[in-house]
Amino acid sequence: MTKPLTIAMDGPVGAGKSTIADAVAQKLNILHLDTGAMYRAVGVGVQDKGGDIYNEEEVCALLENEIRISVAYENGAQKTLLCGNDVSHRIRTQEAGTAASAVSRYAGVRKSMVALQQEIARTQPILMDGRDIGTVVLPDATVKIYLTASDEVRATRRMNQLREKGDNTPFETILEEVRARDYQDMNRAVTPLRKADDAILVDSSDFTFEQTVQHIIDLVEERYAKS
Ligand code: DC
Repeated sequence: MTKPLTIAMDGPVGAGKSTIADAVAQKLNILHLDTGAMYRAVGVGVQDKGGDIYNEEEVCALLENEIRISVAYENGAQKTLLCGNDVSHRIRTQEAGTAASAVSRYAGVRKSMVALQQEIARTQPILMDGRDIGTVVLPDATVKIYLTASDEVRATRRMNQLREKGDNTPFETILEEVRARDYQDMNRAVTPLRKADDAILVDSSDFTFEQTVQHIIDLVEERYAKS
């Protein structure tokens, strides 16, 4: 019997993982789990409780006792819940991204999020995007993609997203933030961001959105046919 399709998509901030993953999952008619949203919800949850995102012990204790993260799907779209409340929009700020980057360094946080992610993948075909999907969460994924683009391209895309929300943060600041997030994500002690040895590198710097989506679908179809 053919194994259910699992797609792991990792890559640095601003590579377009979430939107690309959404489009690929829709075309393949499978669910998409944005795992970054879960770490963002942890960060926002800690701040809501007045906790310090840079205090590992405090963050882990809050996650164990007071903060509950879950995910639900409505018409195929992911809703990220913090203690049962939909925080899908609140977690999209730059501040929530920074908080996520801080709390995702803690082993206790990662352990609990990875367990939840693996549980979600156990029962259905899924495309998961994040930083450690191909290396830790779904080491046996049918297809692993490492999606990246140059720093400047990623910062420009981030800027365009922020502008749509009326955020006028200067380009240079965004570029610095992109680089700082890369550094933090790639150099943390616990499961740093890295390409899995068997992941396929996709550099979208010179691709349009549609080209990137189609390229990934072609890769998935090719691999899935062989599996
Ligand atoms: O993809 P994103 O920007 O929403 O992710 C927010 C932060 O969460 C990012 O700094 C890295 C972290 N993250 C992680 O450590 N592991 C994942 N699987 C997903 C995100």
